[in-house]
Amino acid sequence: MSTDVLLPFAAWLGLREAADAAARDTALVDAVRERLPAGGPLAIHDLGTGTGSLLRWLAPRLPGPQHWVLYDRDPELLARAAAGAVTSADGLPVTVVTRCTDLTRLTPADLAGADLVTASALLDMLTAEEVDRVVAACAGRPTLFMISVTGRVRLTPGDPLDAEVAAAFNDHQRRTVDGRRLLGPDAVDAAAAAFAAHGVPVRAGRSPWRLGPEQAELAAEWFRGWLGAACEQRPDLADRTAGYARRRLAEAAAGRLRVLVDHRDLLAG
Ligand SMILES: C[S@@+](CC[C@H](N)C(=O)[O-])C[C@H]1O[C@@H](n2cnc3c(N)ncnc32)[C@H](O)[C@@H]1O
Repeated sequence: MSTDVLLPFAAWLGLREAADAAARDTALVDAVRERLPAGGPLAIHDLGTGTGSLLRWLAPRLPGPQHWVLYDRDPELLARAAAGAVTSADGLPVTVVTRCTDLTRLTPADLAGADLVTASALLDMLTAEEVDRVVAACAGRPTLFMISVTGRVRLTPGDPLDAEVAAAFNDHQRRTVDGRRLLGPDAVDAAAAAFAAHGVPVRAGRSPWRLGPEQAELAAEWFRGWLGAACEQRPDLADRTAGYARRRLAEAAAGRLRVLVDHRDLLAG
């Protein structure tokens, strides 16, 4: 059984889409609806769209018509996101345009006219300065940041190596890449604090993945990525976790592994 071969990124996003959908805090979407203007088409800007998971989930939960502006630095992911047809809660059309751009340079002018700004599984990939910049661009508009990792995970049954691997993984998430120190699990608190500094109220919700036998494929893929990143951060773990990896993947394949991966959702404004 392979422990280190990971799916291509688009396939990973596809694999996790249903778990993200099940995890998202729908109470925050109810609160979003109350903040949206009545009448005309809604303009929704989605940051770090990937293949469009949040568009497919959120557009049918909001009234239409809607116009979505999808941002990502990866043109192939954006092309996939724009390819599918989506309709609003009331069956009205949802139009889509893409902006292939680096979000670390986002400005308020980019978001001009947006009724709502969204993102999902993005914040951990940013630095403190970049989170401040993104928040400064969003402040003043309802902003929904979903599925941000908190660094807390629980594997059941437990194993003495779980905590050490989790700590190494979180350190990997906070690593410095090309001079950028990523926030990883600290990003969601940094975003909440940045909104507060702008005087914007923030409401937080929980959106944990709860993976069991029905999500064994995702649990195994998540585990491979989690352990792989931990070993990249702490190479000494590689030898010590070889048996652990085989055991965990066998448990996942047999439907005996349960994984809780904690996330938080934020609604600002
Ligand atoms: C983990 S994926 C999440 C994708 C999608 N929101 C979802 O939930 O399936 C993060 C996405 O953010 C994009 N991204 C990360 N940093 C970015 C940046 N600085 N500028 C533009 N896009 C970025 C990546 O290309 C990737 O598609």
